[in-house]
Amino acid sequence: MGLATYILLYGVTFLAAAVLAAYLFSTRKFGHWKKKGVKDLTPIPFAGSLKDVVLMRKPLGVVTKEIYEEFKTERFIGIYAFDEPVLQIHDLDLVKAVLVKDFQYFCDRSLHADENVDPFLARAIFCLKGDRWKKCRTAISPGFTPGKMKRVFILISECVDLLVSQIEKDSQKGLPIDVNELAARYTTDAIASCAFGIQGHTLENPNAEFRRIMRLTFEFTPKEALALVSAFLSPKLTSLLGLKLIRSEVTNFILNTISTAITERETHQIKRNDLLDSLIQLKNSGVITDEDELDTQQNKAFHKFDMWDVMGNSLALLMAGFETSATTIAYVLYELAMNPDVQSKLREEIHDSISKQTLSYESLHDMKYLDMVLQETLRKYPPLAFIDRVSNKPYTLPGTTVTLEAGSRILIPSYGFHMNPEYYPNPKRFDPERFSEQNKHAKYSYLPFGEGPRNCAGIRFAGMQVKTAIARIICKYSVHPSSTTPTEIDFTPKTFLLQPKGGLEFIFKAI
Ligand code: HEM
Repeated sequence: MGLATYILLYGVTFLAAAVLAAYLFSTRKFGHWKKKGVKDLTPIPFAGSLKDVVLMRKPLGVVTKEIYEEFKTERFIGIYAFDEPVLQIHDLDLVKAVLVKDFQYFCDRSLHADENVDPFLARAIFCLKGDRWKKCRTAISPGFTPGKMKRVFILISECVDLLVSQIEKDSQKGLPIDVNELAARYTTDAIASCAFGIQGHTLENPNAEFRRIMRLTFEFTPKEALALVSAFLSPKLTSLLGLKLIRSEVTNFILNTISTAITERETHQIKRNDLLDSLIQLKNSGVITDEDELDTQQNKAFHKFDMWDVMGNSLALLMAGFETSATTIAYVLYELAMNPDVQSKLREEIHDSISKQTLSYESLHDMKYLDMVLQETLRKYPPLAFIDRVSNKPYTLPGTTVTLEAGSRILIPSYGFHMNPEYYPNPKRFDPERFSEQNKHAKYSYLPFGEGPRNCAGIRFAGMQVKTAIARIICKYSVHPSSTTPTEIDFTPKTFLLQPKGGLEFIFKAI
């Protein structure tokens, strides 16, 4: 046998052994659910039960919905994410148990960022675990009280002024406007102003540096997409492969921006009553105080932030706050364009309110129909279409003998619940009346902001940001589908959020 043949044989044997080893490794946990007597979805090597997510064919929220629709009658079903066992739960009492009643077992999310690879993200509230999360959440919450939001409303309104004048300019040309992009520029400016006290200038200039950077946070290369999927579903893989969730260019830009803003405020004693002020207070004194609010220092938790916490959580608020709200604005406008009767009714409510008082944080609250429109939009299109948790100690599922070990992952298919005709008859129909005071939906079947102590920390901020923009737009403009508006929205598989594929273009006509 010649040397070349020998090398070839050796190489082929080595490759076969490596493939076999990888195969055995990736399938080693595949008997997990069967051993527990839990019905499971047959997994395939390397991808587990989520092939379409791993291959970036569908977003995770859509796949969890499809699994739910197929196994709706099961209280829960075992699946595998890559090689990791995950329990997808369908029964609403179980959902309540995990998110609320037995929260002490499930205060953690599985989302994970490696301290060595993504040091700032690892400090961000949505990645923190156990006691570190609890302290951070208690410390941050006073930054979102109604009193704080009332002040932030002024900053938001300034950004809406720019949004409306941008629509005015674009609509005069008679061309369709891509609201996905426009809303992202608005929420980028809004969060830049409210969180960091800086002007993003992205509404005036779509190519502004801030917009370019924020676009990068939700534009993923295949490697970054893999990093994100595994951060949600198989954190060990993220660490093992050293996968980075956010590009250095993004982190460096944000860190420079925030540290400059902090230095300026501290040097010149500037107070803006915004989220950055709250984070600076946490750095300097360990509590957020507010002269006008009833809360006293005594009933607030003390948790001093270091610079890493401030940076990590500025990054968290920025990331959590801009894309979710922007997508929601785009979806609201889509449904209003497709349902002119809803649009007219909403406009009537807005005109009625504005004829009595100027638009304010309080008057937004009085607009019941606006709230119903928002709730129905978030039912049909929850930007985060699944909720995840991980157990921190062994837990026996109520009413069963199935015990989950500490570290077990749970997925809740919220989008699946939202589209279940038993909870929401004719679910594809956009009908804000589902959320009128007399119509009650099944508890825990509606989860756009999650539920329980670890739900969305920015609900008030999000509501204000979205409603102010919608109220001001609908007051002045009628919105119509353009020739490119789809009759049904298709979602992009490129991100973990439920976002429309391509843009959403509409015609705006001044009233
Ligand atoms: C329409 C807009 C938004 C939607 C639909 C949304 C939805 C969500 C959801 C589903 C979660 C996970 C909840 C859970 O696991 O139970 C979450 C977490 C979070 N959201 Fe939002 N969000 C929105 C806007 C915002 C805004 C504007 C901010 C802040 C400025 C924000 C801050 C956060 C934070 C900090 C968390 C993590 C909370 C924790 O881990 O304790 N969100 N959001």
